[in-house]
Amino acid sequence: VSETSRVRAAVVVDASAVAVLSTELGYPQSATDAQRRLLALLADDDHLVLVAEAETGAVVGWLHARYSIELVTEPLAEIVGLTVTSSSRRQGHGGALVAGVVDWARSKRAAELWVRARVERLGTPAFYERHGFALDKTQNVFVRKLSAGDGRPEA
Ligand SMILES: CC(C)(COP(=O)(O)OP(=O)(O)OC[C@H]1O[C@@H](n2cnc3c(N)ncnc32)[C@H](O)[C@@H]1OP(=O)(O)O)[C@@H](O)C(=O)NCCC(=O)NCCS
Repeated sequence: VSETSRVRAAVVVDASAVAVLSTELGYPQSATDAQRRLLALLADDDHLVLVAEAETGAVVGWLHARYSIELVTEPLAEIVGLTVTSSSRRQGHGGALVAGVVDWARSKRAAELWVRARVERLGTPAFYERHGFALDKTQNVFVRKLSAGDGRPEA
């Protein structure tokens, strides 16, 4: 809860700010990349992209969440990405973004809200616990590249 954070739905013109913040987070990208992805997400009701603005109107954080139907559980909502620029942390922006996704997940009738956080991000457990999340499990993530000619047999 903050007096300075204003959270709103992202719009296409936020793409350049999203690109800068994502690059800072470790996902380098151009404004054009961010714009293409944002356009696809904004057209899909099962995705939510929020931005947090400082009092100056500058975009200082974003959150992306998705709603998904499941085979073995009731539908879930998941925070796919969340970041606040380092100079604006501990001012309530992250908490305001989480409040926004909780409202959205409830409106979608999701049974649970998930987030998978990299273990290297040391501040995140305290942040999520502060916002009502509890650690459920740890996982390994396996990735298979799907680019053409990766030399692997078809499976
Ligand atoms: C995690 C993150 C989004 C939090 O954003 P934020 O705007 O700083 O969060 P808030 O100001 O709303 O913090 C609310 C509370 O969470 C807790 N908290 C937040 N960051 C914390 C940290 N680094 N260490 C311990 N507690 C923390 C505190 O209780 C804090 O309240 P306080 O400042 O009054 O003590 C931000 O630190 C960030 O972008 N980190 C890098 C990216 C990342 O880890 N993203 C999440 C990946 S899933």
